[in-house]
Amino acid sequence: MKGDTPGALGLRLWGRGMSPTYARADSSGLGERRRSRQKAMNSDKIDQIINTHQGQASSLIQVLMEIQEVNHWLPREVLEKVSEQLEVPLSRVLRIATIYKTFSLTPKGRHEVHICTGTACKVRGAQRVLDKVQNLTGIKPGETDMDDKFSLETVNCQGCCTLGPMMQIDGKTHSRMSPAEIADALKKYE
Ligand code: FES
Repeated sequence: MKGDTPGALGLRLWGRGMSPTYARADSSGLGERRRSRQKAMNSDKIDQIINTHQGQASSLIQVLMEIQEVNHWLPREVLEKVSEQLEVPLSRVLRIATIYKTFSLTPKGRHEVHICTGTACKVRGAQRVLDKVQNLTGIKPGETDMDDKFSLETVNCQGCCTLGPMMQIDGKTHSRMSPAEIADALKKYE
């Protein structure tokens, strides 16, 4: 499966289970509204990305990464277009989009908050940090707020345990966080 190796692209992709679902975002109609809005905003850019790699099956992960970056998630219809234009079976596109946690099959906020709940961070107070973020944003892990501003996820050990409790926002590490510092950290993101 040439080109499907994340390491070859120098990408950091978190593994996850094999159960793709678009169901959660559909439960309230909110997902549908987000999809419509984001589709209008990003469709030109997405088409441009896909067209640039037309017929290049080996560019699959790269294309998905670029789309994820501009659109913050991978709608089903976009994956169908990727499949068609890159000449890769849809089943393979879905498999790749599902395997790696970097890719989202549900709408995401403009800023992704990751809180480490690994053992060392837990001992250093990760739960208090998580509680505070939940309290300030009104969302739980796996959710996106009503303004599409923040998405929240918990992650396993990120390999920098001495910096715990550790929080990342859009990949930027905030180390040794105390609940009191969280509001200031979140305020910096629009
Ligand atoms: S446990 Fe959080 S970085 Fe290792």
